[in-house]
Parts: sequence; structure tokens; C-alpha cells
Amino acid sequence: MNTVAIYHIKGGVGKTATAVNLAYLAALSGQRVLLWDLDPQAASSFYFRVKPKVKGGGKKLLHSDEAIFKAIKASDYENLDILPADFSYRKMDHQLENKKTLKRALEPLRGAYDLILLDCPPNITYLSENIFRACNAMIIPVIPTILSLRTLEQLIDYFQSKDMSHIKLMPFFSIVDSRRQLHKEIINSLPEKIPMFLKTYIPNASEVEQMGVRRKPLSVFANASKPSKAYCYLLAEIMGRLKELPEA
Ligand SMILES: Nc1ncnc2c1ncn2[C@@H]1O[C@H](COP(=O)(O)OP(=O)(O)OP(=O)(O)O)[C@@H](O)[C@H]1O
Ligand SMILES: [Mg+2]
Repeated sequence: MNTVAIYHIKGGVGKTATAVNLAYLAALSGQRVLLWDLDPQAASSFYFRVKPKVKGGGKKLLHSDEAIFKAIKASDYENLDILPADFSYRKMDHQLENKKTLKRALEPLRGAYDLILLDCPPNITYLSENIFRACNAMIIPVIPTILSLRTLEQLIDYFQSKDMSHIKLMPFFSIVDSRRQLHKEIINSLPEKIPMFLKTYIPNASEVEQMGVRRKPLSVFANASKPSKAYCYLLAEIMGRLKELPEA
């Protein structure tokens, strides 16, 4: 089982769009997928038309194997389950006993899924540290701007200083506007400096925004669109890198 966080300290970089589209496409390819919407904003739950409610709240999920199985909802798509958000997740930082509480909570799901995706809230908190201990890979959407890159570099330094070499970091460019000179320059120059960058990037496209209106993954209603194809390539690239890893 691979546990993959879609994470960035920054908000609004395309984490949820990525989590929703990759979850759908991975399930379509035959993998048994669980998407856990860890963000009290509940955007992934919204896209999948799942009520953002967990009986007993996040605290119960963290401490009861039975509760975590009971909270999982089927999605409208084969092979894809959703663990919904709950507004109580805002308190999760205080409900985690130690850095490995989330990892332990996921343990009973081993065997039931091939891939667990974590749609993470922005910021860097105690919950984030728990996410870092629970995942074996991290997908990091990066908008090609100077400040976003600076934040990414801080994040990479943090992982190196804390010896989190068990996490395969997979940054990629998100919401790319190829008419902008700076976006083009950054995309062309950066992967040389940070070789872990995935080659695929996701363009800035109105079809992605339409997901909010349709409440469906992109490939369900715009399969032939450029961003839908880009998400397919992104998944293929990620699966290729995951194959090189020992499973978490
Ligand atoms: N490739 C894209 N092209 C155009 N708009 C996009 C793209 N990706 C995401 N968006 C839009 O940008 C906004 C933020 O995207 P999203 O919710 O996926 O980001 P996020 O990183 O999960 O945000 P948060 O940190 O608040 O959870 C949304 O309105 C979404 O529709
Ligand atoms: Mg989000």
C-alpha cells in the first residue's frame, strides 16, 4: 500500500484538484483507492458529493479501528472510497497523541487499499508532522512564481534537516499560464536545479474550475481536454516513481 500526501504549506495551489483527479484516475486504472479529505474546508468531499460529516468527529477516527472503517463512504465511482472531512478536524492538532498517531490510525486499512491519498490542509502544523510520518510519498503542487519556489526550497530544507528521507518528494508545476514569461522561464530552468520535479505540469484551464460546478472529477466531463490529459500523464509519472519505493 502506498500512502501519498498531496501537501503544500501554501493554500490555493491546486492540492484538492490534484487529489480528486488523481484519485479518480488511479481508481479507473484498477487500483483500490481511498481519498481522505483531511481539510475541514471539505473541498474534496464536496467534489465527490459526499457529506462532510464523520460520526464522533476526527478524534474517534484516530483512536478506533472500527470508527475509521465505519466513516468510509463509497464514491460514485468503482474502486474509489472517500473518508470525508469533518469540521472537527480543525481540532486535530490537539487530538494527536504523538507524531505517529495518524500512521497508526491508517494501519487497519492496509490490505483494503492499494493507494491512500491524503488531501491535506495548507499550513505546517502538528497534523502536518503526523502526515509526514504516515506517508511514503508527497505530491507538492507548485505555482511557478518566485515566492512559491522559495517556499518549496524551505520545505525541502526542512525535510532534509529532520531526516525525512523516507518520503519521496514529488513537486510539480500547477496552474501554469504558458502565456506568462516568468512561468515559462521558471518551468524551463527549474527542474535542472531540483531534479525531483515531475516533468508533467498542469495548465491553468477553465475546465478545472468547472469541477466546482459539475462536482465531478475532470476526466468524467472533459476527458479530451488538455488538463485532463495532463492529469493522466501526471498519474503515470507518479506511479512510475512509486514503483521504485519500498511500500509504507
Ligand atoms: N489547473 C487549474 N486551472 C485553473 N484553475 C485551477 C487549477 N487548479 C486549481 N484551480 C482553481 O484554483 C482554486 C484552488 O484550487 P484547489 O482548491 O485545488 O487548491 P488547494 O491547494 O487545495 O487550496 P486550499 O489550500 O485552500 O485547500 C480553485 O478555485 C480551483 O478551481
Ligand atoms: Mg484544498
